[in-house]
Amino acid sequence: MQKNSLIAPGEIVREALSKPTIFKNEEPLSLEWLPTRLPHRETQLRFLAELFRSVIDKPGTTSPKVLISGDIGTGKTVLTQRFGTDMQRTAKTLKVNLQYIHVNCREFRGSLFMILKQILQKFTPQFPQRGFSSEELLHILLDQLETKNLHIILTLDEADVLIAAEGSTSLYNLTRIQEERPGRPVRLSLIIVLREIEKLKDLDRSTQSTLQRNLIRLDRYSTSQLESILRERVELSFKEGTISEEVMSFVADMAASAGDARYAIELVWRAGKYADTEGSKEVRPEHVRTAAQSVYPVMRTDYAQHLNIHEKLFLLGLARALERTQETYASMGDAEIAYKMACEEYKEEPRAHTQVWKYVQNLGATGIVSTQPSTAGFRGKTTLLGLPTAPASAIRRWLESSLVRRP
Ligand SMILES: Nc1ncnc2c1ncn2[C@@H]1O[C@H](COP(=O)(O)OP(=O)(O)OP(=O)(O)O)[C@@H](O)[C@H]1O
Ligand SMILES: [Mg+2]
Repeated sequence: MQKNSLIAPGEIVREALSKPTIFKNEEPLSLEWLPTRLPHRETQLRFLAELFRSVIDKPGTTSPKVLISGDIGTGKTVLTQRFGTDMQRTAKTLKVNLQYIHVNCREFRGSLFMILKQILQKFTPQFPQRGFSSEELLHILLDQLETKNLHIILTLDEADVLIAAEGSTSLYNLTRIQEERPGRPVRLSLIIVLREIEKLKDLDRSTQSTLQRNLIRLDRYSTSQLESILRERVELSFKEGTISEEVMSFVADMAASAGDARYAIELVWRAGKYADTEGSKEVRPEHVRTAAQSVYPVMRTDYAQHLNIHEKLFLLGLARALERTQETYASMGDAEIAYKMACEEYKEEPRAHTQVWKYVQNLGATGIVSTQPSTAGFRGKTTLLGLPTAPASAIRRWLESSLVRRP
């Protein structure tokens, strides 16, 4: 064996760490980062502030209910988080006791009960685990807000999942509950975020009309809008002179067909990574092209077309689970739970475990999913599943855009 052809463990990582990089701070390119400014969403921010101003001006008198809808990556989450954070801060300076709470319904499998339980446990850590219906929990929450003299703005993000799981009931209760307590100050305001506005059809007439009264629709971003969003991020995260206007336009152009800011940001980050790997001093169009190919590798391969609906739903569940935990692997058990949720969303009857296991083996054979037995310490013995060929977010996005929902 030739000794000098072997690379010592850790050497590649050490080498990468010692190399120069074109990034000065990658954080603004991470998906969790909350920008201070939101180009092309300022009008919507202003409108939200108008809708909610009485919550701070005259607390207790009104409880706005707003619906925000738009396609993937149109800034629904970032808009509500920016708005909520700013509202909470402003309220504090004016001595109004206001808290912003942002909940992703998908994380709670669309269960209002689980969502309320989590909120109540934040207020009262010993809050009992069982024994209440979600309607009772809502009343308890309102009682708590009264005791604490607190107002909350609650955002239910990805409420599509809540509607899929619980139909009209939860949103009806949420929007109406305060009417059952006449004469008391209103303390709960709502922002409902929906990806698909058509989901409104699944609601009862009265909830529909309540929500449609204050609807904010976010359009897909155009190329030039994506460009200015990118410019802000790039200035914060890339060293000066490492990425030209031309390359940024190129990225914006590629993301424009979907109008998706998340895709644009992921693309520019990856392109930077390819530039760094090559030791290039700047991001060049070919890095962007390589990045674009690697973001959607599943889509380009033939085998993806031969996946059946349940294999796709399993893959979607797994991708979402990994995206959420940011881990390399998910256990078979967790992936199966995520699969069942995906089935619910797409109105498919989930298959039994043995059948699902066959799908996993099929997916393993195509190489999209990696499987391995768990090592000691991973909650007993299970199979660990990973997605070695592409970022989980890319796989999720691809599936979400190719799977068709039943009416
Ligand atoms: N106007 C904007 N200015 C700055 N950054 C933005 C803007 N719009 C979106 N982004 C960024 O783009 C990414 C995607 O936005 P966001 O997560 O809000 O989209 P979304 O509409 O919630 O998508 P999804 O339907 O997939 O949940 C985030 O990193 C966000 O910070
Ligand atoms: Mg979102």
